[in-house]
Amino acid sequence: MCGIIGVVGSSDTLSTLLEGLQRLEYRGYDSAGVALVRPGQTWRARAADGTQSVAALRLECEHAPSGFSSGIGHTRWATHGAPEAVNAHPHLDCSGNIAIIHNGIIENHSELQEQLESRGHVFTSVTDSEVLAHLIEEERAKGLELIDAVRQSLLIVRGAFALAVMDANEPDVIVAARRISPLVVGTSPGVTYLASDIPAILDKADVFYAVNDDEVVRLAPEGFRAVDLEGAPVRLHQLQIDWDLETAEKGGYDDFMTKEINEQPDALRATLLDRRHSDGTITFDELRISDQELREVKRVVLVAAGTSHHAAQVAKYAIERWASVSVEVDIASEYRYRDPIVEVGTLVIGVSQSGETIDTIMAIREAQRRGARVVAISNIVDSSLAREADAVIYTRAGLEVSVASTKAFVAQVAALELFALRLAQLRQTLAPSDIDALFQGLNAVSAQVAKTLTRRGDYESVAEQLLNTRDFFFLGRHVGFPTALEGALKLKELSYLHAEGYPAGELKHGPLALIEPGVVVVAITTDPNMHEKILSNLAEVKARGATVVAVATDDDEKIAAVADFVFRVPATEPMFTPMIDVVPLQIFAYAIARGLKHEIDRPRNLAKTVTVE
Ligand code: M6R
Repeated sequence: MCGIIGVVGSSDTLSTLLEGLQRLEYRGYDSAGVALVRPGQTWRARAADGTQSVAALRLECEHAPSGFSSGIGHTRWATHGAPEAVNAHPHLDCSGNIAIIHNGIIENHSELQEQLESRGHVFTSVTDSEVLAHLIEEERAKGLELIDAVRQSLLIVRGAFALAVMDANEPDVIVAARRISPLVVGTSPGVTYLASDIPAILDKADVFYAVNDDEVVRLAPEGFRAVDLEGAPVRLHQLQIDWDLETAEKGGYDDFMTKEINEQPDALRATLLDRRHSDGTITFDELRISDQELREVKRVVLVAAGTSHHAAQVAKYAIERWASVSVEVDIASEYRYRDPIVEVGTLVIGVSQSGETIDTIMAIREAQRRGARVVAISNIVDSSLAREADAVIYTRAGLEVSVASTKAFVAQVAALELFALRLAQLRQTLAPSDIDALFQGLNAVSAQVAKTLTRRGDYESVAEQLLNTRDFFFLGRHVGFPTALEGALKLKELSYLHAEGYPAGELKHGPLALIEPGVVVVAITTDPNMHEKILSNLAEVKARGATVVAVATDDDEKIAAVADFVFRVPATEPMFTPMIDVVPLQIFAYAIARGLKHEIDRPRNLAKTVTVE
């Protein structure tokens, strides 16, 4: 999740790049950089200053030489290598002539770097991206044109990329390419642009084109030509853009929440990318706790707030089942006030999208004071939580702007379940073939979420019919219970209606007294192991007059007999269902709030990050 921009043929190259980077800051901001290229000279500036990196870069650029009509710029969301200037893009090859910017992850970077170093290349950063500069350098040394050198290099690269490359020996040309990570090209008379997102160049270019996976584009002032990785010409699809700048920042969506709901497949893909070696070992590059320590863990305590707490609750089921370690989940704001027991072998995991939630930070400080080893699950690189913990696993959901958390939740569940598989691998509590099957299943969730998103209209039409409801109960069993809690929280914070999440089995112990005509019960029924039981619970609420909405799998033929409305979703391994089942619940909450004409991205009384107790 980084922002990239490039321009060729411009009379105000540097200001175009800096303005574009400012608009791309929401994609990452832990460092930023630009490279300007003219015949025989590449000039580069980089800066890392937390959320102020683009501002710091502006200062670095105050004394930039003039007369450059081409350049590239990057704002970084660190994945490999600390967020420091030395790791900021652009990266250069050994000669200093070739400059590259990259958004994505090069999965086979370690082996490529080893090979390149053995051939004499010198690396100056600890990023995965720098290998691209050196690979292209080798291809250029064979006499290839820049576009062919890039193409050849990409044939041996695995992973995701949107990249842009310049070479002082072929000035006024940028070569850009894409696989998975977004990339657009824009043109205006005599100037050609590229960017990861349209907002960066919306006020500069007149016509916009989408670059597809495995396409390589050569940009020059007079226009561009595109080829596939084999060198065969391809036509880029022209985009219809009728947005203003503000809408464009939301990717054309009405609000950030819709954009972020739609980004969930990408959030999952990015979070799981590059997490397993070819020998099957699950790895977290950012995790600085030894395998031996993880093997010896006796108890895991997860601390978190709100949506992150629901993701932590899902993790409890996965860690206990797969790794046979006992798990407790604590509300972060309660943990430090209740004399928690920390014994040798207690691992505390703080889960937080922002990494700045005061309750979670105070909870991990208390755990550390009592001698626990602490892992942070954070979506923000170098957040306070990440810095204070002994180790960190980053979710890579990208910046989440809407107060109602959506893509962070699915990314947290994926990261935590992957961590559970790693524990199981180290402790040998699952057979390698089971771990393999679960890993494959986890990777397939992204596509299942994408399929679920295509049914948005079905979920919205149920919301329209239930717009006058005032009381909602969300029921689930096993991991369906935290999913129910998350569905209820989404509805509460967006619609300001009464919504409670309950374990379905607990209903008869009190809340059933509240069920009467007019109450809506939303139930998670996707786990085959829990199916019969939850159907009986639904029969009980229906008999008392409730309206029933069920989240059910495509192949569930029994559900129609008890449910008034059904949110159909693809079936998956039960442990993965929260990442899919939450999607209709997010859309449902959103649609009710829209129907009630509520502000979506900034619900009343709430802040994105809670930094006071
Ligand atoms: O940044 P964090 O994950 O630590 O935030 C925790 C909660 O404040 C957050 O999840 C909150 O509950 C959301 N508004 C829920 O949508």
